[in-house]
Amino acid sequence: MAMDLIPKRAADSATEMVQVVLPNDANPLGFILGGTVMHLIDIAGAIACHRHTRTLLVTAAVDDLQFLHSIKVGDLIILKSHVTCVFTTSLEVQVDVFSEETLTGRRLFTSRAYLTFVAISRDGAAVKVPPLIVETDEERKICEAAHARREERLKKKLEMASTML
Ligand SMILES: CC(C)(COP(=O)(O)OP(=O)(O)OC[C@H]1O[C@@H](n2cnc3c(N)ncnc32)[C@H](O)[C@@H]1OP(=O)(O)O)[C@@H](O)C(=O)NCCC(=O)NCCS
Repeated sequence: MAMDLIPKRAADSATEMVQVVLPNDANPLGFILGGTVMHLIDIAGAIACHRHTRTLLVTAAVDDLQFLHSIKVGDLIILKSHVTCVFTTSLEVQVDVFSEETLTGRRLFTSRAYLTFVAISRDGAAVKVPPLIVETDEERKICEAAHARREERLKKKLEMASTML
């Protein structure tokens, strides 16, 4: 498979997903299930990363996740994702989740997630990801923060792997 290693901006792959919360997505209280939100976060993150890498991907890690507000049946759930930083064969994406009341337009920020995806070839080997264009101070700050999170999660992975021995 020919690899596209052309550098891209975060804006080139930024993604917004919107869907209405239906009764089938909800718990008996009429709020969307946490697992459904996690599924949508994975999809929104993956789409931005696919747009950046144009490769197959696997989810390697999802950082801590909090649900600040419940989202009820009939509301819109909005997921905005953008790549924060790329490493060698992996990249980090930020996914922000909002609820929006359809009748009033009232929007609440409900969750933020950082996910790491690894680019793989058809035979499952990790492959290089295209560079991310980082030009502004703000973009540099975002990427530095992503490097710090990466260090933490790789440390946690090692700790977890060592407890499983
Ligand atoms: C993710 C996976 C490909 C990593 O495999 P691995 O043999 O540990 O890979 P490597 O050590 O060669 O690392 C490859 C890249 O992944 C990154 N990586 C691996 N595990 C990671 C983790 N837990 N968190 C963040 N990054 C991780 C490495 O830092 C490396 O990135 P870099 O090339 O940009 O430096 C492998 O563990 C896997 O396939 N996991 C299952 C994925 C899956 O099925 N996900 C769906 C949910 S179960």
